[in-house]
Amino acid sequence: MDIEEKIQELEKRNHEAEQGGGPKRIEQQHQKGKMTARERIAHLLDEGSFQELDKFVVHRCHDFGMDQKKMPGDGVVTGHGTINGRRVFLFAEDFTVFGGSLSGAFSEKICKVMDLGLRNGAPVIGLKDSGGARIQEGVVSLGGYGEIFKRNVWSSGVIPQISVIMGPCAGGAVYSPALTDFIIMVKKTSNMFITGPQVIKEVTAEEVTPEALGGAMTHNTKSGVAHFAEDSEQDALDRVKELLSYLPQSFRERPPAVEPTDDPERTDSNLNTVVPTNPRLPYDIKEIIRSVLDHNRFLEVHKHYAKNMVVGFGRLNGLSVGVIANQPRFLAGCLDTEASMKCARFVRTCDAFNIPLVTFVDVPGYLPGVGQEYGGIIKQGAKIIFAYCEATVPKITVVTRKAYGGAYVAMCSKHFEADFNFAYPTGEIAVMGPEGACNIIFRKEIAEAGDPDAARARLVEEYRDKFASPYKAAELGYVDQVILPEETRPRLISALMTLQKKKTSIPKRRHGNVPL
Ligand code: HXC
Repeated sequence: MDIEEKIQELEKRNHEAEQGGGPKRIEQQHQKGKMTARERIAHLLDEGSFQELDKFVVHRCHDFGMDQKKMPGDGVVTGHGTINGRRVFLFAEDFTVFGGSLSGAFSEKICKVMDLGLRNGAPVIGLKDSGGARIQEGVVSLGGYGEIFKRNVWSSGVIPQISVIMGPCAGGAVYSPALTDFIIMVKKTSNMFITGPQVIKEVTAEEVTPEALGGAMTHNTKSGVAHFAEDSEQDALDRVKELLSYLPQSFRERPPAVEPTDDPERTDSNLNTVVPTNPRLPYDIKEIIRSVLDHNRFLEVHKHYAKNMVVGFGRLNGLSVGVIANQPRFLAGCLDTEASMKCARFVRTCDAFNIPLVTFVDVPGYLPGVGQEYGGIIKQGAKIIFAYCEATVPKITVVTRKAYGGAYVAMCSKHFEADFNFAYPTGEIAVMGPEGACNIIFRKEIAEAGDPDAARARLVEEYRDKFASPYKAAELGYVDQVILPEETRPRLISALMTLQKKKTSIPKRRHGNVPL
C-alpha cells in the first residue's frame, strides 16, 4: 500500500466508525427526539476541540454469534476537548450501537478517559444512553461496571464528575451516575431505575410507567437522585457548561474567577422590607439571594426537591460561591430529612472544590413529627452539622429572621467556625420561638391569670423583645455584626475578599464517619 492508499484506508475507517449503528438506527434515535452520541459531543464541546480516543476498539465476545457483529468504537464515543477553553474528558454512550450496552471493551474505553481526567486534574462528563450490561458478555460486563464505579469513587472530591442522563439508564448501571457530583436528566426521554416496570409488576404487583417510575421529574422531585431536569438535550448540555463555570478543574485549584462587572458596593433598599415584621408571614428567600449575587444570577441546584431548603451557585465580585438558605415559603423553612440531606450534600460538594459557603438562615427548627423521627431526622439532621463543621472553605452566615434551637447551631453558626456571622435587625436567635418558650417557662403564670390568653400574649411579647432578637447573640460575639438588609451585598463581598487567604484545618484522621 502506498501512502495515498493508507490515507484512504484511514479515511474509510474513520467514516465507518462515525456512522454509529447506521442510518436506520440514527433515524430512530432522532425520531425519539434524541441526538446521536457525536451530535451531543459537538453541542457540548468548543468547536473543533474534540480529540477522539479508541475509535477503532471492538468487543471481544465470541458467544451468541457476536463474532459476526463488531462495530468500531463498540457503542461508546470517548475522548477529550474543551468547554469555554477549559479541558474536559468525556464519554458518550451510543444507543444506536448494541443499544449502548456496556461490554468489557466499552468499559475499558470509559476507564481510560476517567484515568486521564484523574491524572490530569480535569472534569469527567458522562453522557448516558444505554440498555445497561451487555447481556451477551455476562460477568465481563459486570466487572466493567465495577471498574467504572471504583474510578467514580476514587475521583470523588478530586475532579468534578457530571452525568447527563439522555436515555435509559437501568439496573446497576445507575450507580455510576449516582456516585458523581451532579446528575442532569432530560425530561420525557430519560429514565433511571434499578428494576424496570416489568420486574416490579412481577415482584410487587405494582403497575407503573417508566416515566412515573424513573423519569426526570420523579428523580428531581421525589427521590432527589437528580439535580436538574431539562426540557431538551441541548438545554441539558448547556447546563453542564454553566455548572462547570462555577467549578474548579480539580480540588487542587480554585474555581475560575471572572472579571467583576457588577458594582461590589451595590446596595438594595428593597431588601429592607423583604422580611415581614410579622414572624408568621412567609417570604421568598430567593429575592434576597438574587439581589446580592452578581447580576442577580443564581444557578439553583436541586430546585424541585425539598423546597424548604435552597442551594445553588452564584458569584460575588466575580468569585464563585455556594449559597445555602432556608426557604420560609415552604414548611416555614423547617429542616426535615430531605432538606437536611440536600443541604449537607451541597455543603460537602462546595467544600470539596474550594467554593466558599454563604448561608442565609431563617429556620424555626427541625420539623417535628412521627414521620420525621421514623425517617431518621436524627441521623439526617446530623449530616448538616457534620458537613458544616468539616468544611474548611470560607464560611459566611446571615441570619435574616429566625434561628431557633438546634437549627440555629446547625446552620453554620459561629460555633462551627463560621468566619463571619451577620444578622439583620429582624433576627430572632433563641432556644425556641416565643410561643413555645412561654408555654413552658410561664405555664403556671398563664394558667393562674384571670385572662390566660391575654397573659400569654403579653408574656410572648416580652419574651420576643428580650430574647428573640439578634442582640443577645451579638453581645456574646456569636453574631459579629448586625447589618442593614440593604447592605448585604457589600458586606458579603467585603467578608469574602477578607477570607481569600484563609487557612485552617481539622484534626488529621483516615476519614470522618459521616452519619449515612
Ligand atoms: C445487549 C442490548 C441491551 C443489552 C438493548 N440491547 N439492551 N443488547 N445487552 N443490555 C440491544 C437490543 O437487543 C436491540 O438490538 C438494540 O439494543 C436496541 O434495543 P431495543 O430494545 O430495540 O430498544 P428500545 O425498544 O428503545 O428499548 C430500550 C431498552 C431495552 C428499554 C433499554 O432495550 C431493554 O430493556 N434492554 C435491556 C435492559 C436491561 O435489562 N439491561 C440489563 C440491566 S442490568 P437490535 O440488534 O435488535 O436492534 C445491568 C446490570 C449492571 O445493567 C450491573 C452493574 C453492577
